[in-house]
Amino acid sequence: MRYFIKTFGCQMNKADSEKLAGWVVGRGGKLVSHLALAQVVIINTCSVRQSAEDRVIGLVKNIVKLRKKKKIKILLTGCMLRYSLARLKQMLPEVDQFCWLSDLVGDNDLVKREDRVHAWVTIMEGCDNFCSYCVVPYARGREKSRPIEEIYCQVNKLVKRGHREITLLGQNVNSYYKNSEFKIKDGKLKLLVEKLKIKYQNNFAVLLALLCQIEGLEKIKFITSNPHDLTDGIIKAMKLGKVDRYLHLAVQSGDDQILKKMNRKYTVGQYLKLIKKIRREIPEIKIGTDIIVGFPGETKKQFLNTVFLCQKAKFSQAYISKYSPRPGTLAYQLKDDVPILEKKLRWRKLNQLINKKNKK
Ligand code: SAH
Ligand code: SF4
Ligand code: F3S
Repeated sequence: MRYFIKTFGCQMNKADSEKLAGWVVGRGGKLVSHLALAQVVIINTCSVRQSAEDRVIGLVKNIVKLRKKKKIKILLTGCMLRYSLARLKQMLPEVDQFCWLSDLVGDNDLVKREDRVHAWVTIMEGCDNFCSYCVVPYARGREKSRPIEEIYCQVNKLVKRGHREITLLGQNVNSYYKNSEFKIKDGKLKLLVEKLKIKYQNNFAVLLALLCQIEGLEKIKFITSNPHDLTDGIIKAMKLGKVDRYLHLAVQSGDDQILKKMNRKYTVGQYLKLIKKIRREIPEIKIGTDIIVGFPGETKKQFLNTVFLCQKAKFSQAYISKYSPRPGTLAYQLKDDVPILEKKLRWRKLNQLINKKNKK
């Protein structure tokens, strides 16, 4: 069978699609690089904004057109599976099968990596934060961290195969093993981890420091961090030579009232203080962010507070999103009252301020 995999959404989905590719190859399938060549199309979906879902719906429509000439099976997986099966069938009647990714790939190790130098390594999945606008806790479930021993072995293997750079992935990497203790079988590793724990006092920092000790590994990146979990121990580990000098730290808004309505658990003052501290410790660090414009009730004045924050924070880049109401989230109950034109204006203003200005 010839398979084509189409991936929407974030890096986590990209990493998942490499697992899907491994699963296809493992069962004797062949991957093709064009939709028109495929007998089966797997769509790995994103649900974070309506526009992401619209693109999935558009793709399905295109495949349906191709179906007039030949048979193509459509299999849909990823974050849109958060909807009930009945709802999915109603939204996308042409899809042959809806399937959770974990039911397809299981725990198999047959990841087909696209890059020889860099590799994605998932360290935790899910999110417990429930920001009021966000579907991720519903799509990905509660936070679940992978055992440190497993990650350590995996990265060692990757390095042996020639990978020199890794990106640790998780919706909230900073809360890796936040409320639980490591269980480590290997005595030597256990001792090493115990030592690192005393030094760093935070389990994500321990993981970073441990992986830094792997010979042959040159660079460690990680996404995404959450401001309220970024401890001094993590900053200390970020100073290690192999850790990338780019930190992605979503702020979402520069207005305390909006942050509160977003359920973000920090204030603008706390955020600015945190990045100041990070820059003091690691002067060469670049900081990027995510921002949502046009959250329900966001006034012009509140938006200007975000502009002020961005002027102070000097982000090297930002992913700016126009608020998109998501069924099932808390904010969905609030009126989406910022007109789309106003959202676009605010989007453009921030984009010019942060992203254009930094281009050489
Ligand atoms: N865990 C990450 C973010 C994952 S979602 C973090 O907390 O930093 C990626 C980004 O999509 C978010 O940072 C947010 O800016 C944006 N986003 C999420 N839900 C959205 C919505 N309903 N409307 C618009 N943008 C949204
Ligand atoms: Fe979504 Fe908030 Fe979790 Fe990020 S921290 S994934 S924005 S709920
Ligand atoms: Fe990522 Fe989209 Fe899911 S941003 S976690 S693929 S909803």
